Amino acid sequence: MSSFGLCILAAGKGTRMKTQIPKALAPLLGKKLVDFSILCLRDFAALEKAKYTIGVVTGHLREEVEGYIANNYNLAQEKIEFTVQEQQLGTADALKAYFKVSEAKSFEYTVVMCADTPLIEASDLSLMFEEFKKNPKINAVCATFKADEPKGYGRIVRGNLGFHIVEEKDASDTERKITEVNSGMYIFKTSYILEKLSNISDKNKSKEFYLTDAFSDSEMVTPLLFPNGEKFTGVNTLTQLDDVTSTLRDRKLRSLQENGVFILDRFHTYLDWEVTVEPEAVLHPNIYLYGKTKIGTGVTIEPGTIIKSSTVEAGANILAHSYLEDAIIRQKADIGPFARVRPGSDVGEKSKIGNFVELKKAKLEKGVKISHLSYVGDAFIGEDTNIGCGFITCNYDGANKHITKIGKNTFIGSDCQAVAPIEIGSNAFVAAGTTITKDVPTEGFAIARATITVKENMAKRFIKKKEK
Ligand code: UD1
Ligand code: MG
Repeated sequence: MSSFGLCILAAGKGTRMKTQIPKALAPLLGKKLVDFSILCLRDFAALEKAKYTIGVVTGHLREEVEGYIANNYNLAQEKIEFTVQEQQLGTADALKAYFKVSEAKSFEYTVVMCADTPLIEASDLSLMFEEFKKNPKINAVCATFKADEPKGYGRIVRGNLGFHIVEEKDASDTERKITEVNSGMYIFKTSYILEKLSNISDKNKSKEFYLTDAFSDSEMVTPLLFPNGEKFTGVNTLTQLDDVTSTLRDRKLRSLQENGVFILDRFHTYLDWEVTVEPEAVLHPNIYLYGKTKIGTGVTIEPGTIIKSSTVEAGANILAHSYLEDAIIRQKADIGPFARVRPGSDVGEKSKIGNFVELKKAKLEKGVKISHLSYVGDAFIGEDTNIGCGFITCNYDGANKHITKIGKNTFIGSDCQAVAPIEIGSNAFVAAGTTITKDVPTEGFAIARATITVKENMAKRFIKKKEK
């Protein structure tokens, strides 16, 4: 069994991003830049069935980077360790800091990945590792690619045995013209890199310790040229962050299509990395699915809809311009158009929530209908109850929230208000226009209206004419 020390370099300042947040925590499809390196390395270790540790080198704003990772991963279980690079003296210095990770020196191979290359996949690392299997004498493999615009990347200068890398700042005019560039992803034999690290100097234009100096023409080191260079895009600017976001989103959408999801316009469908969508769901254009949203089989989501961290079960329809957050929509329920379902809501099977209805912490059983213009908050509504147009739960007294409970099969007429806390039983009937201030028992009838007075021919007394 091979063993790998997996290193993520995440100590840099990310100056070119022009933002305050550390680059490793730049947002990317509901996750952070650094997550993609962690996931890639974890998948690689699984592919190779290898013993491993992931060492994350932090420095600039390290409390934030470490705090984020510690909150989102089980460090012990996922074998993640942090190590500090006190001063950002260059990538070789960062790797030195990595070797302070416990056991780092004992792994047979050391894989180095930057925190800013989220498009790289585990299979790419496996391809690199193949080189060691083909020729066990090899000391290091560096992934390279051809860049139309090589600016900013280290250039690969191939020698007879090995190769070396010249950084942009130190390159001669001829070297700058080389289009084969360094991806920043390497696999080293650990014994080799440990020896090289002790000899790297900072005698270069940047006065930095370059990890790229670990390669030389006189060593058995291999540049492995990847045909698809786009996957090595390094995120140094917000424009590059935008580029990798589009690529990852497209990867995700294509894989959904391959699994039977209907996507009507792939270029205008927006979803986070962890969203799941079952086959036969139909995603219309201009929808936004965030967080860990789960979309069941046969669900339709119409244009303009935003869904955050919610579950939509099989066969439900979310009609145009609806906004759902931390909610559960059960099988075959209909939501919208123009509905707002706020956190803590649970809409029962085959229920219908129509236009301009707002739910908040509302638990609706099966077959409930709230079809138009209502606010239902802190409420429980039983099976098959029908709520008329313009119903309002008056749940807030200025200081506290109160609960409204309505039983099964009850009919609430239009334009009613339930002043909570209040309970309305099952099979009850509340007449239109009632402000419900007393509990209504099961099978009870409630009405609260001022008596209407109708006088014939009296309208003219009230109609005012405009003077000409
Ligand atoms: C580096 C490579 C370059 C390659 C490019 C690919 C070097 C000297 N150059 O350049 O050949 O083409 O990546 O994207 O390695 N970091 C630290 N500590 C430091 C400096 C950097 O942890 O002291 C980390 C950064 O957080 C980042 C990574 O190392 O994740 C790379 O640093 P960056 O400044 O982006 O290097 P590049 O200029 O892109
Ligand atoms: Mg970079």
